Amino acid sequence: MNSSSSEPPSEQAVLPAINPETAAGFYRDFEGKIFVEKVSGTPLDDRPRLDGILSTTGIFMQHGVQCVLVHGGGKQLNTILGETSKHPKTQLRITPKQMIPHIVAACLDIQNHIVERCRELGIPCQPLDPGIIQAERIPGHGETGRVVAMNTEVIRKAIKQNVLAIIPFGGRDENGSYLNVNADTSAAMVAAALEAEKLFYMTNEKGILIPNGQGLKRVLSYVDFDGIIELLRKKDRDGTFVINEGMLPKLTATALAVAGGVNAVHILEADGKALENEALTHLGDGTVIERIQTHHIAPAHDTDLPALMKIRQECSGPQHQTKSGTPFLKHMNEAELKKHIPSSLVFRHRDIPIGTIYFQPTLEYPGTGLIGGFAIAEKHQNTQHGRQIFEECLDTMREAGFTRAVSITASPAVKALYGKYGKPDETGEFAPMLERSRTRFVEGEKQDVVLYTFDLRPQENGSGQERD
Ligand SMILES: CC(C)(COP(=O)(O)OP(=O)(O)OC[C@H]1O[C@@H](n2cnc3c(N)ncnc32)[C@H](O)[C@@H]1OP(=O)(O)O)[C@@H](O)C(=O)NCCC(=O)NCCS
Repeated sequence: MNSSSSEPPSEQAVLPAINPETAAGFYRDFEGKIFVEKVSGTPLDDRPRLDGILSTTGIFMQHGVQCVLVHGGGKQLNTILGETSKHPKTQLRITPKQMIPHIVAACLDIQNHIVERCRELGIPCQPLDPGIIQAERIPGHGETGRVVAMNTEVIRKAIKQNVLAIIPFGGRDENGSYLNVNADTSAAMVAAALEAEKLFYMTNEKGILIPNGQGLKRVLSYVDFDGIIELLRKKDRDGTFVINEGMLPKLTATALAVAGGVNAVHILEADGKALENEALTHLGDGTVIERIQTHHIAPAHDTDLPALMKIRQECSGPQHQTKSGTPFLKHMNEAELKKHIPSSLVFRHRDIPIGTIYFQPTLEYPGTGLIGGFAIAEKHQNTQHGRQIFEECLDTMREAGFTRAVSITASPAVKALYGKYGKPDETGEFAPMLERSRTRFVEGEKQDVVLYTFDLRPQENGSGQERD
């Protein structure tokens, strides 16, 4: 393999090198399994990017992973079909019959280009005919089709011989006529039919982007099947849909794939290094979508201490501080945090701690527990993890015999969450406790520090307030 042409573009060099031992562990798990990769758009016209993706794929294959590449139409298809050819209701392309010969030519052209790059990089490959995807016309959409069946035997035969199967966009109807079929959907159906371990959507974005609460966007790390449905409906605080039009077909195809049994779908930047990182590290850089989330909330152990310190440090940055720079999360050294470990909960994703919270009895208020140390790692915020660990904390306290919980915060995000489960203390009962907490805040910001109470008595319906 020509490793020099696998060099990723320079802006990707910041990604850390993958630990060889970790990679070896992943390769052991993936041996004999199937990866389906979907490439489309810009990367097809960007030789270093395409070479990077193919080189990484070649390395996967050398480790016994069976690989399939599904490619889209790239710029060529856009040029042929133009801007105006979308169905107003479905937003799918309407394909005029006279365009078909041009599309078929473009399809062949792109496939030939990929085959040529593979040959140059020393990657054994087999270009497959669009006819392996059997399609039917979608009424009202001209020659645009949808997948009805596929010839998995041909694909399996190629990949079992350690050859990269290259599947073009499109399909053929029962008479052998070419139909324009969305490659995102084809890739999802191919991955489901092959019971693939992973499906990678290589895109122009780093993953699924969602609002970060500060008017910017950030990559969503992971989401499960229910989460996809929620995301498709979710609107930003300004009323716009969180998922943009470009990501929509990928997300609906992803739902098809995970519902069809694909273990994990990854949406990532089209780049060889990003692909390697996504497959061979626990967290990757893009978005991973699994049918069932491999996360859980459980009591903390002493061994979690370094990870919890790291999360807390991450959660004390400027976006998690008051205007004058006081972190919402109280600073604690390792020895102080260690004392809270026995009553801490940890939110784990694939066994890696990504969030935490603790509680402790309050000596002066019998039956009342104080909640603190509430933090979710930056990359995982805004995806309901905070809400889940907080609910779990209330349940754990209820089971431990507490009848009431209190928590003190100056964070607007936490106030919004706490308001759904409890209410600010207006009785003044907890005034001494609140005063003690306010000492670390500057004048003018002390009044922003609020103490919430949560009723834990079961017959009172928990929060005493309506949840949304
Ligand atoms: C506060 C924190 C724990 C919330 O965790 P999270 O996983 O991001 O929160 P969730 O996605 O579960 O959000 C649950 C609710 O919290 C509120 N919320 C979360 N982030 C918010 C934000 N940036 N602005 C306003 N409300 C927000 C919302 O009510 C949200 O419900 P919604 O999505 O239905 O509107 C997390 O942002 C964090 O670790 N922050 C830094 C540390 C910190 O400030 N800790 C609190 C110390 S008192």
